[in-house]
Amino acid sequence: GKVAVVMGGPSAEREVSLMSGNGVLDALRSRGVDAHAFDPAERPLADLKTEGFDRAFLILHGPFGEDGTVQGALEVMGLPYTGCGVMASAIGMDKLRSRLLWQALGLPVPQFELLDEHSDWDAVVAKLGLPIFVKPNIEGSSIGISKVKQAADLPAAFAEARRYDRVVLAERFLDGGEYSMPILGDEVSGFVTLPAIKIEPATEFYDYQAKYFRDDTVYRCPCGLPAEQEATIGELVKKAFWAIGGRGWARIDFMTDAAGQPYLLEANTAPGMTSHSLVPMGARQAGMDYPDLVLRILDTTLQ
Ligand code: DAL
Ligand code: MG
Repeated sequence: GKVAVVMGGPSAEREVSLMSGNGVLDALRSRGVDAHAFDPAERPLADLKTEGFDRAFLILHGPFGEDGTVQGALEVMGLPYTGCGVMASAIGMDKLRSRLLWQALGLPVPQFELLDEHSDWDAVVAKLGLPIFVKPNIEGSSIGISKVKQAADLPAAFAEARRYDRVVLAERFLDGGEYSMPILGDEVSGFVTLPAIKIEPATEFYDYQAKYFRDDTVYRCPCGLPAEQEATIGELVKKAFWAIGGRGWARIDFMTDAAGQPYLLEANTAPGMTSHSLVPMGARQAGMDYPDLVLRILDTTLQ
């Protein structure tokens, strides 16, 4: 049947989604799938039906696509789509709600505070220490994120994050490493994790430039953690994905502290598939090339 690679969209991650989507499109075509690009920023989603698409490969990142909105529209249209459903997509896009769920299950998350215009900046610094990450609750690709090294910079970091979301998080900095682990599968057939990737940005943190454009970001896969610890983290990642009601595919980001303890940061339910992206790196390490991975994700529409 005819497959729509739904890409682009109106979010701040539009350009990333176009890079991901073009990779997916090429891979599907290279394997003989009748795939076509479909950008919901340029035309109504209802065209998917009138143009005879049988299913959708969703590779929109950020709000209006990775957050359950498009998933809901496709449910109503009766069109099968890849990856997480409405609820998992919505929770995965919301760092605060994801963390509240994980905390309720006793899963480790970094200590955080909500910021607003009445926040006592000194009290936040006293509680979380420095540096502090300031993040919009709902956003991706590190857009709107600052690493604050001195208390005086906190209000400006808050204002920057506020441009993207009303809800802003301040998060304790963890001085171990930054990692990410891809996951495939669902509750019925079972979850499978792929090898973790360690990220070593040459910049102050793994920001938008470091993610997609700089060639000096170092990615390690295998990630260098002892096999036993990576297996333990795999179980943590499965629980975290299960908790948000996830299915299909995702990538769970985490950081470690100086003692090597992992803390969950967020779930990305339509993670990047660009040439610099992490899920393809984990898949390759597991013996799955990029087109194999894309076909595997396409199969998640059949569940
Ligand atoms: N939000 C970006 C696309 C990612 O998680 O890969
Ligand atoms: Mg993200």
